[in-house]
Amino acid sequence: MPSHTINGLFVTPILADFGAEVCGVDWAQIPLPEELIKTLIRIQDQYAVIIFRDTGLDNERHVAFSAQLGRLEKNPAWGSERVGTPFLFDVSNIESDGSLVKKETVSIALALGPEPQLEGSPISERWHHALGNALWHTDSSFNQHRSKYSLLLAHAVPEAGQGNTEFADTRQAWADLPDAEKEKLRALVVEHDLWHSRKLASPNEYEELTTEERNVKPPAWHRLVQKGPSGEETIFLAAHAKTLFDVDGEMLADSQEIIWDLIAHCTQPKYTSTAEWKSAGTLMWWNNRQSMHRASPYTENMGPRDIRRSTVIDDRPLALGVSKKTPQRSSMSS
Ligand SMILES: [Fe+2]
Repeated sequence: MPSHTINGLFVTPILADFGAEVCGVDWAQIPLPEELIKTLIRIQDQYAVIIFRDTGLDNERHVAFSAQLGRLEKNPAWGSERVGTPFLFDVSNIESDGSLVKKETVSIALALGPEPQLEGSPISERWHHALGNALWHTDSSFNQHRSKYSLLLAHAVPEAGQGNTEFADTRQAWADLPDAEKEKLRALVVEHDLWHSRKLASPNEYEELTTEERNVKPPAWHRLVQKGPSGEETIFLAAHAKTLFDVDGEMLADSQEIIWDLIAHCTQPKYTSTAEWKSAGTLMWWNNRQSMHRASPYTENMGPRDIRRSTVIDDRPLALGVSKKTPQRSSMSS
């Protein structure tokens, strides 16, 4: 579809019906007028990923705009000390002390005798945690009360071509599956576990989890096949997906094979696009119920990539998933 105007906003699609750049929002006037919010949601519903350039947003207005779209997720553990608000997830390559993330942190030699003792972990938790973000995923699928929107704002971007974000259209990918396969998949429940994707990306670092880590992020159960905001079916899948359960609550022995075959199907080039951050002020807003995404992995020679995410909790049917392994047990939301 060519560029077009919707209620005064200029919309340039990226793929035919997936992803669009949107111009014409006056970001200085937050809170935005209710009619404008409705128009933006309409565009978001259609394209699933929308991108705004040169917003000039800061933390406060980023959070305020996001809050106009629904209740915000609070960051339970990671990174908010640098950005200063629990409503923003720090997904940058910057440590809490402001240094750029490295695979191994610099250990401090203590002058205690002829053989210095080393203080501090040689492993960067941020580095290893971020490796999982480079796998195809949806944000917060590991929460029992899932989130719908993610709004990622750039405060600083690395050189062109580094640190891009890729998106996959799970709506069209689902629509193109054979009917017989759709019928089988509709019955399945997925166990999503943050630690599963972390282990896939960094097996040594996450081989043994602490009790605190497990308690902070226990697994969640959601139906594999979901409804998008317009009622269309779509796949709700992510690298967090650990196990599949059938209609009787029985675990499928080939869960991981099925999951990664589906992720491979959804992320074929015809369903994906790469979004460049280009400059500070770029805001990417996507719907986790209609898309998957992945970040480019950090590299040790990458410049600052200061990117902060607000996340809007889902308020629609199926938002609370199912009560463990079977869709037959009552849904946790109507
Ligand atoms: Fe993400």
